[in-house]
Amino acid sequence: MDLHLNGRTYVVTGGSSGVGLATVGLLLSEGARVITCARDLSRLRSAVEALPGAERVHAQSCDVRDPAAVASLIASGTERFGGIDGLVNNAGRSRMATRAEATLDDWHDELDLKFASVLNTVDAALPWLRRSDTAAIVNINAVLARQPEIRLVTTSAARAGLLNLTKSLSLELAPENIRVNTVSLGLVDTGQWRRRYEESGTAQSFAEWEAQIAADRGVGLGRFGRADEVAAMVVTLLSPRSSYVTGADLDVCGGVARYV
Ligand SMILES: NC(=O)c1ccc[n+]([C@@H]2O[C@H](COP(=O)([O-])OP(=O)(O)OC[C@H]3O[C@@H](n4cnc5c(N)ncnc54)[C@H](OP(=O)(O)O)[C@@H]3O)[C@@H](O)[C@H]2O)c1
Repeated sequence: MDLHLNGRTYVVTGGSSGVGLATVGLLLSEGARVITCARDLSRLRSAVEALPGAERVHAQSCDVRDPAAVASLIASGTERFGGIDGLVNNAGRSRMATRAEATLDDWHDELDLKFASVLNTVDAALPWLRRSDTAAIVNINAVLARQPEIRLVTTSAARAGLLNLTKSLSLELAPENIRVNTVSLGLVDTGQWRRRYEESGTAQSFAEWEAQIAADRGVGLGRFGRADEVAAMVVTLLSPRSSYVTGADLDVCGGVARYV
């Protein structure tokens, strides 16, 4: 099935690793152009330069919490490519902390990351999305939004807020034919989990460690997801093939979600 992405331009934040990098790669393979960012420019460049179609990537250092940096990313990306058809708010991480461990600064920091990373990019990209005939926004979220984990208390609460914000954005922007959807992840094998594995000091192999966590958390399919399995759903939601889907929350979680 042709996703009709050829020649279109998409912004993907956090393109140097994991879900963001897989999404950039899939968009390029569909013939799209990509504007992407991360804080570490050299890591971003070496990741995207290895992708087929890398000449269609605009890569820039940008912290998505900084509105001026995001405005600069969108300005230089659109100067190069002439427009934006979609936006994937992916950049971020989760914070391992219980309620007793999390300080007030942790709460401020977590809420700032989850909300600013979406509000800054939407503000900067909206004038361009309004000019597209197939504009779509996908916010990467987590099943934690509906199924909180006490080890991830700030992240769970912030993700619930992001889910709510995404619904509001979908309602606000639907009259302008700009679709806004959420992709909610369970446990996906990316840089975040590789870092946690290294920090754990376990004698297990990564595969054994990962399988144990998947079993402990009750992942129905019994394994972590892969970044390319998430990217396929993100790109489908960006595609005009999903032209009647807005305000939706798509779980890509291997069955770990227990809510109905
Ligand atoms: N993997 C999972 O199991 C899982 C589960 C639920 C939700 N998620 C969410 O999925 C998204 C992607 O995560 P991932 O697992 O693919 O993680 P990852 O492999 O660690 O990649 C994160 C990407 O975001 C960038 N980034 C982080 N903070 C940023 C900031 N403030 N400004 C700009 N770029 C920033 C990172 O580059 P720099 O560090 O160089 O900035 C990197 O490119 C995140 O929002 C994450 O919280 C992941």
